[in-house]
Amino acid sequence: LKSIAVMTSGGDSPGMNAAARAVVRTALYEGVKVWGIRDGYHGLLEENMFEMESKDVGDIIQRGGTFLGTARCKRWKTPEGRMLGYQHLVDRGIQGLCVIGGDGSLRGASLLSQETGIPIVGLPGTIDNDVWGSDYTIGCDTAANTIIDAINKLRDTASAHRRVIVMEVMGRSSGWLALVSGISGGAEYILVPEEPYDLDKLCDDMKNAYAEGKRYILVVVAEGAGNAQEIGDFIAKKTELDTRVTVLGHIQRGGSPTVIDRVRASQLGEQAALALISGLSDVVFGFSKGRVVSIDLHDSVNNKKQLDPEYLHLAKVLF
Ligand code: F6P
Repeated sequence: LKSIAVMTSGGDSPGMNAAARAVVRTALYEGVKVWGIRDGYHGLLEENMFEMESKDVGDIIQRGGTFLGTARCKRWKTPEGRMLGYQHLVDRGIQGLCVIGGDGSLRGASLLSQETGIPIVGLPGTIDNDVWGSDYTIGCDTAANTIIDAINKLRDTASAHRRVIVMEVMGRSSGWLALVSGISGGAEYILVPEEPYDLDKLCDDMKNAYAEGKRYILVVVAEGAGNAQEIGDFIAKKTELDTRVTVLGHIQRGGSPTVIDRVRASQLGEQAALALISGLSDVVFGFSKGRVVSIDLHDSVNNKKQLDPEYLHLAKVLF
């Protein structure tokens, strides 16, 4: 292909800038035109796009968020919306599209490819690390490190007061962030949407642990596993232990990307551009066992990623 475009879509994640930068610079290096689409599918529908030069992606690798902007776009869910977006690409001679986003954004990309045949390459960009076929999504490492920073601080105050702290982290349908940050933050309990849990038993265990001298307890809850405030209220009532709740919220989505997120996003961006240029379509590039792999786009959106059973086991052993 001789002219491609790149967009970021859905929830932003640290490292999206590094990925877009790599797409742009790889395309230019290969002598291919590259367009940037602002605000995801919404911007495509509004014809908010521009042809990019190398300097357009200068001074962004260290920034969180996405310089292209992003959006959650309802109109893209309709076939008419997708056809209009396709027309806007065709009008500019754009022959292929790289979409950087989470499962919803990749689903939108998969539909566009099926309906129009335009070459599409996806990159997994979400802090949730829930894209099937890849061990890793752009931004999950930075988000996990942000959560760890919060956990370290919460432990100080929890220990000082002998409190139970219930902390809610992001993950509407995936417990990856809760599991990984819970393991690395030394949480006593990790509640994830993928695994059932028994709050009554948990409360009994907590009371016993305090009776044996435990100073404090940290419970990490993925947002998809329940409402942290309700869980905290339940624990306080049942155990009569002094309990506090922290909902970390969008702090988790921001911040300068870690080295891992910058390097991996750059590798993925390069592969995406090269694949599009050589005419490949319907693939998502991700990581498996530390290496870049390509995954079928439709498989990726039609399957649900499971939590690593070894991590789940480890969380139980280390408790
Ligand atoms: O980016 C994915 C995600 O972080 C989910 O874990 C969370 O439920 C959602 O985004 C929040 O999205 P929004 O910023 O649109 O409220």
